[in-house]
Amino acid sequence: GTLMAEEAKKLAAYAAVDNHIQNNQVVGVGSGSTIVYAVDRLAERVRQEKLNIARQLILQHGLPLSDLDRHPELDVAIDGADEVDAALTLIKGGGGCLTQEKIVAGCAKHFIVIADYRKDSKALGQQWKKGVPVEVIPMAYVPVSRAIARRFGGEAVLRMAVSKAGPVVTDNNNFILDWKFEHAQNWKEVNTAIKMIPGVVETGLFVGMAERVYFGMEDGSV
Ligand code: A5P
Repeated sequence: GTLMAEEAKKLAAYAAVDNHIQNNQVVGVGSGSTIVYAVDRLAERVRQEKLNIARQLILQHGLPLSDLDRHPELDVAIDGADEVDAALTLIKGGGGCLTQEKIVAGCAKHFIVIADYRKDSKALGQQWKKGVPVEVIPMAYVPVSRAIARRFGGEAVLRMAVSKAGPVVTDNNNFILDWKFEHAQNWKEVNTAIKMIPGVVETGLFVGMAERVYFGMEDGSV
């Protein structure tokens, strides 16, 4: 049979946790629907194997929570992604979090990504159609949007709340522009150039960060 995306997420998450997490490690986790399965598996292993794992979002499982002040060096960070290309460049931030996730990934010795088969892509833009999320300081969203479009083409649109009550507000109290680009670019250069625009906090392009990506596939393989 063909695997549903949810089952594929779980397969990828379990494989990543089982292959990369050992006792007494400091582990970073991101957000999204795939990471939930990784946290489930972490909690299971903590119970069964009496592992000591420090990290975030895990409160509901009663796992020990830390922060980058106390643990600025992480052994492993695990996170989902909206799209992964052949060079393991990622688009992240579809769920609204990207800056904190990039900080955590940057603090980890190993950054491991977990995703279902729908995120697997030869080139960015083929799977994730909503563009590259860019977190911006709220008062700068119009000039930043114009600067991105002028320089790189396409359109950078302010992300609105589903309720349409107003813009989405991030975990850092900022706004998000979704940059719908028109053609493939040199993502490393684009990422750096966008970050240099005054008012940009961070981009959802993760270039050269992911060490390994686990895809749960439709046929049940990882
Ligand atoms: C959160 O904003 C993102 O960076 C997530 O990691 C990404 O959206 C993946 O989410 P899912 O696991 O729900 O697809």
